[in-house]
Amino acid sequence: MFYYYGRKKQIAKHYPIPNYDVIIEPFAGAAAYSFHHNSIAKKVILIEKDEKVANIWKWFIHEATERDIQSLPDLQPGERSTEFLHIIHAATKMAFAFKRIKVTPVLARNWEISRRVFAKHLHEIKHWEIICGDFTEAPDIEATWFIDPPYLGEPGMGYRHSSALINYTELAKWALSRKGEIICCEGIGANYLPFTPLIELKGIAGKTSKEMIFYKQGSRNKQSNILDLIEPGRSGNRLLLPDISV
Ligand SMILES: C[S@@+](CC[C@H](N)C(=O)[O-])C[C@H]1O[C@@H](n2cnc3c(N)ncnc32)[C@H](O)[C@@H]1O
Repeated sequence: MFYYYGRKKQIAKHYPIPNYDVIIEPFAGAAAYSFHHNSIAKKVILIEKDEKVANIWKWFIHEATERDIQSLPDLQPGERSTEFLHIIHAATKMAFAFKRIKVTPVLARNWEISRRVFAKHLHEIKHWEIICGDFTEAPDIEATWFIDPPYLGEPGMGYRHSSALINYTELAKWALSRKGEIICCEGIGANYLPFTPLIELKGIAGKTSKEMIFYKQGSRNKQSNILDLIEPGRSGNRLLLPDISV
């Protein structure tokens, strides 16, 4: 929904599509996966420990009107802002440490794009739920779980609630005990779950980074795989027919 350090907007389409009517993001951030797969028919539950980030969601879900969005002022390069929603539009790891930022041309442009997105999609997220708290406070229900914590080690250090505060062994145990299907995101090098490569991303100055995934099906997938045996493609699943190659 908004620019955010580590958001999954560009790669949301590469993750498995949700097979459940409820999507839960226990590390919400800007919730790009839920936003990509959003529909009025789906329930979306977000959990976010950073109160400032959760408050943005509370404002969008419970208060903001289209008129409020339209009356948000432009940002001018060179001006300074103490508004957290502006600061995170810098989409850098440093943003969380700033109390005030100087608006760059890139930030002004990001903000302009975001305002248009907010105005267009606000009505589609009004049925979402936001819980400000720890990921363990998520309801224990059957769902598509999109689990995107701060990445292990240095890459996850930028957030106010950073990787240094997470016990990844406990997180893995918790993730594996969710009901439904689970999609877990990480960078290269994390081994608290058996991650496999999802996609390689091109960064600046020719640098690349690998996005890793751990995916575990739920019982709903198994049922729809049977439907696919009868009528291939019916479930929309990636994992369709059994491998019968020799
Ligand atoms: C990698 S970001 C999520 C990005 C998100 N998937 C997106 O598309 O924008 C991780 C988020 O988890 C939050 N977080 C960190 N520790 C948490 C905890 N213990 N419980 C819930 N949220 C936490 C951080 O504040 C951050 O917003």
